[in-house]
Amino acid sequence: MKKSRIMVVGSINQDIIFHHPIKNTEIGTIYGGYTMANGGKGNNQASAAGKLGADVIMVGCVGDDEYGRRQIQALKKIGVHTEGIEVKKDLPTGLAYVGLKSDGTYCSDNAAGANEALNWRQVEDALEKFPCHMIIMQIEMPLETVYETYRIAKKKGIPVILDPGPAQKIDLQPLKGIYIISPNEDETYALTGVRPDSRKEAEAAACILKEKCSPEYIVLKLGKKGAYLYAEGKGELIPAVSVKTVDSTGAGDTFTAALGICLCQGMNIYQAVEYANGAAAICVSRQGGQPSIPEMNEVKEFIKNVKEKKL
Ligand code: ATP
Ligand code: RIB
Repeated sequence: MKKSRIMVVGSINQDIIFHHPIKNTEIGTIYGGYTMANGGKGNNQASAAGKLGADVIMVGCVGDDEYGRRQIQALKKIGVHTEGIEVKKDLPTGLAYVGLKSDGTYCSDNAAGANEALNWRQVEDALEKFPCHMIIMQIEMPLETVYETYRIAKKKGIPVILDPGPAQKIDLQPLKGIYIISPNEDETYALTGVRPDSRKEAEAAACILKEKCSPEYIVLKLGKKGAYLYAEGKGELIPAVSVKTVDSTGAGDTFTAALGICLCQGMNIYQAVEYANGAAAICVSRQGGQPSIPEMNEVKEFIKNVKEKKL
């Protein structure tokens, strides 16, 4: 099968993962461990798309520093094209402090650094060299770049998946007609004012998103519950695969990348969400964000085993 060509437009961060929550009120030193990991929502999604088997180009910005060089090298190692990444002399690479909670979920504090310089002209330039089947983006970058990327893609007829993270209340009107919007629970709340804690609330939130930007599909990422797909006027919960949660960092990014690739490969939206749930479940069952992203063969095997167990 021919490889899908995917462009990821978004953030690149150095993650410092504290093995304890970072937003606590204790004063003093906490004697806990930490690990360094490559991160940023865009970087994670490009890395996931590469590992899952697509031909990927990353469009983003890093600083002229060790952290930035490390991110570029890691992407190259997976085979992701990095010509779309600009190195900014006067800004540092984005930094994220990620604090793990005891249930495997996390919160993070980010400093945008070079991500704030990501410009839509980079998207235009990259598309000249790398025509693609799909664009995946998030909102950890200037909003102008998000809107302009969509405008450019629409003009060229390229479908766009928006993962609207981190949670922010943004105007969705300029994204009218987008292929897929796929927020997690906090992002859904920020965009719609409705927390999707029940099916009824998920449907209400999906209807608001439909009203605001008329996407073809809405896929709400609901953590350990799975994903709520709203397609052709109907909503359905597609349950997560049950695993022991170790670290959910990057689960949403893995989910979004897998969703995109599966659709590019011709799966229908229901199958694509099922595979995305599988890829993300593998990711949460291991430590770290990018290091836990599986390859497509592992996801296929995993889904096959889950189905066999159900029989
Ligand atoms: P991130 O921002 O770290 O990339 P997120 O908060 O956007 O993640 P979640 O909503 O937590 O993403 O999860 C994304 C997907 O990962 C879910 O839709 C589900 O498929 C899978 N997932 C998350 N948590 C679990 C879990 N505990 N068990 C199984 N699957 C999970
Ligand atoms: O989605 C996970 C990512 O969000 C982390 O890698 C961190 O960099 C934050 O931006």
